[in-house]
Amino acid sequence: MSSLAGELSRIAGAAFVAEGLAEELGRVAASDRPDLAQFQCNGALAAAKAAKANPRAIAEKIAARLKAEPIFSKVEIAGPGFLNLDLTDAALDARAATLMDDKTLGAPGTGAGKTLVLDFGGPNIAKPMAVHHLRSTIIGDCLQRLYRANGWNVVSDVHLGDWGLQMGQLITEIESMGTAPIYFDPNVVGPYPEESPVSMEDLETIYPRASAACKADPARLEAARRATVDLQAGRPGYRALWRHFVKVTEVGLTREFGALGVKFDLWNGESSVDSLIPSMLEDLKARGLTEVSEGAVVVPVAQGDDKKPMPPLILVKSEGGVLYGTTDLATVIERVRDYDPDLILYVVDHRQHGHFEQVFRAAEKANLRGRAHLEHVGYGTMNGPDGKPFKTRAGGAMKLFDLIEMGKAEAEKRLAEQGIGADYSIEERAEIARKVGIATIKFADLSNHRTTDYIFDLERFSKFEGKTGPYLQYAAVRIQSMLRKAREQGAEIGAPAIHSAEERRLILQLLSLGDLMASAEEKRAPNMLCEYAFELAQNFSRFYNEHHVLSEADPALKAARLGLCALVLAVLTRVLDLLGIEVPERM
Ligand code: ARG
Repeated sequence: MSSLAGELSRIAGAAFVAEGLAEELGRVAASDRPDLAQFQCNGALAAAKAAKANPRAIAEKIAARLKAEPIFSKVEIAGPGFLNLDLTDAALDARAATLMDDKTLGAPGTGAGKTLVLDFGGPNIAKPMAVHHLRSTIIGDCLQRLYRANGWNVVSDVHLGDWGLQMGQLITEIESMGTAPIYFDPNVVGPYPEESPVSMEDLETIYPRASAACKADPARLEAARRATVDLQAGRPGYRALWRHFVKVTEVGLTREFGALGVKFDLWNGESSVDSLIPSMLEDLKARGLTEVSEGAVVVPVAQGDDKKPMPPLILVKSEGGVLYGTTDLATVIERVRDYDPDLILYVVDHRQHGHFEQVFRAAEKANLRGRAHLEHVGYGTMNGPDGKPFKTRAGGAMKLFDLIEMGKAEAEKRLAEQGIGADYSIEERAEIARKVGIATIKFADLSNHRTTDYIFDLERFSKFEGKTGPYLQYAAVRIQSMLRKAREQGAEIGAPAIHSAEERRLILQLLSLGDLMASAEEKRAPNMLCEYAFELAQNFSRFYNEHHVLSEADPALKAARLGLCALVLAVLTRVLDLLGIEVPERM
């Protein structure tokens, strides 16, 4: 289904064309002043400017043509030549009825025939997922859902950090522990034990120890560097050990992503492009794109108009190891080869902006990106009440799993306070708490513009009133239970029909979902979906306070109102689903 604003733009565009003007001038959008009109068109001003003519005179001509269109109930000229437009209730009702039958609920289809590779999550092997990966996961998953809903072919990749120095640090630490000598014996080339010599819990203590040892002792750091180079060069014992790290960590990660309801199409990592690196380096060298600088192989990426110095992208370090930038560049080649995407988005902390700028410039310079537009979708930091990156009470980095548990516990407390589910089974209460806890965390994260830092305040995020996930779930659950009762009564659920200002406002908002989804896609802005959902819940509650629904005596009115409720529920549930939030059966 095409959007309502799109349909009006075509009508107004035709009016401009009939006056010998450009069709684009007819662009119609929701009004900035909903108190004055539903829609507006500012094309007469732009047309007048270009033709050095009087905007009001042009607006009069366009208005005369639009008045002949039965869809409009009001065509008015405001100020210097703005066109204010209202639709007839009949036109809105007809479109609401169409929306009810549209399974996509007006999705804009902006991605038809297009492929997006979406790089998000990005946890690192052997380290538990930290809270800074949470934002990437939540924002990335929302974009994954939104782009799919908009018709894109989305290929999501968790892109594990599995190839850097931390691997060498772990390997040397395990060597010094002496607990798994077979992996270090130069006379053994395999086979190696099936079972991992370390568990995820072991890695959680081994990695911090290894990293501290390397910080304290330059010789240890040097050994870790060498081990990294040897691992990358294919030393069998190191590769075998590394495979154990990857497997063991993946089990833990699957659990955490699963708890959040997040799925990836690809479980690739930095190491996945290992085999592409030698040919990439050769090719770049042959084309004269690389330089040797202090023993390292680099691609210069500075440009004349840079405001800040832009260091070159380092591909091979002087001791021979490859880096984060090397694997990212090779991954561009792999993705272009495998998916020929239109767009590659990297949902990564904004502090990595410089890194991506280097990689993108190198990809451009070496002509590696095919037709893909490469873009870093950065985001700010989740801070604690002290304004510093969120930590546990003990001062460590908060683990994602613990955060989810915290959200659940808080939800349980709130539900008990509200007396919700007191008579439900323990299992059902736990299931509700799980959904509410996750909604608390996700909505709080997504409702801020992604580039702003925000303070994590579980107390506030978990409230059942205000702009929170639980409030919206509760709003949806209430409509669900009302519709359940209506079905039990055998009441008819008809098509919505406008009889009041509240109903008109709701229907206008429902009909704007497609445009909203298109704008949220264009701006990569999940917070727009949060805004929309909150406003919808508020518009609904205004309607509900002013109207009888179940208790309405007139059967036609009742059927129309129930239809409106059903449509609000469908749209609200849809938007919450785009945010990765599930609505409980009941609360
Ligand atoms: N592993 C990285 C980190 O923890 C994030 C990876 C992001 N994706 C990428 N293609 N570089 O910071």
